[in-house]
Amino acid sequence: MDGAELEARFAVPGVLGFETTDSGLVRARVTAASAEATIYLHGAHVTHWMPSGKEPVLFLSERTELAAGRPIRGGVPVIFPWFGPRHDGRQGPQHGFARTAEWALEFAAVAGDEVHLLLTLGPSAESRALGYDHFRLAYRVIVGRTLTLELTVANTSNAMDAVLAFEEAMHAYYAVADVREATVSGLAGTAFLDKVDGMQEKVQAEAALAFTQRTDRVYRHTTATCAIDDIAGKRKIRIEKMGSHTTVVWNPWSELAATMADMEPDAWPRMLCVETANVGESAVTLVPGATHTMRATVSVEGGD
Ligand code: BG6
Repeated sequence: MDGAELEARFAVPGVLGFETTDSGLVRARVTAASAEATIYLHGAHVTHWMPSGKEPVLFLSERTELAAGRPIRGGVPVIFPWFGPRHDGRQGPQHGFARTAEWALEFAAVAGDEVHLLLTLGPSAESRALGYDHFRLAYRVIVGRTLTLELTVANTSNAMDAVLAFEEAMHAYYAVADVREATVSGLAGTAFLDKVDGMQEKVQAEAALAFTQRTDRVYRHTTATCAIDDIAGKRKIRIEKMGSHTTVVWNPWSELAATMADMEPDAWPRMLCVETANVGESAVTLVPGATHTMRATVSVEGGD
């Protein structure tokens, strides 16, 4: 459905609208009393969320492409069915195909001061060519003073032995005033794979993680709530999760940002990814008919 069709079906005047952008992407705009938000059907991508009276919580690169088939740099990319480069010996796009697929909007409604959206993705010619024929994803987005993101994956195969194994992430880019003054709490004593140090396994000794260089860490076996203390921005962003056993923390720093065509070279201090994920040994395996749900609930304190 294009923006006009969704507008006719789901719009709520003054609160929820739909449009097709000049580049042909369809997006929902939420302007509720509790928050505003933008959600693209492309990738089921939340690119903007701002509780009323606060600053935007998500970082979106000014240089991002907003085009069919291209990943969006910022917001919350939905990563499925593998994280990073495909690693089962076959070819496939970095971070899977879900973030660049066109999702369908199945439901959109106002509930009190929140707006609830449900987007779904099933097999396509592209996913089948990559070997994924029997899955359905449902992504529930609840926009309000908190942002709830909930991804359910179903194995829709009828064949008894057709297990669906996948990795997944809600690869959120949070906006911070200056990452060099920010810390992340919730990961003390947690083992992680250090992607900037040859995938060595280490344990975080510090109570809070501070940022002094390129950081790319896959924290293992953690269900902990994390909080970004955005000290320069005078606010805390809290990320509570369910059904997720991996947390990834990433900032490209100046060296990697300089190589990224879709990010301004001086934008990296203003972003920090804290990703709710199931990766590596926490990849999920579903038997036919089974489902798995992963949820992140994001809230903000301060920064008014
Ligand atoms: C992170 C990974 O989650 O995503 C990093 O841990 C990666 O290794 C980053 O560089 C960004 O990936 P992409 O494909 O969006 O540039």
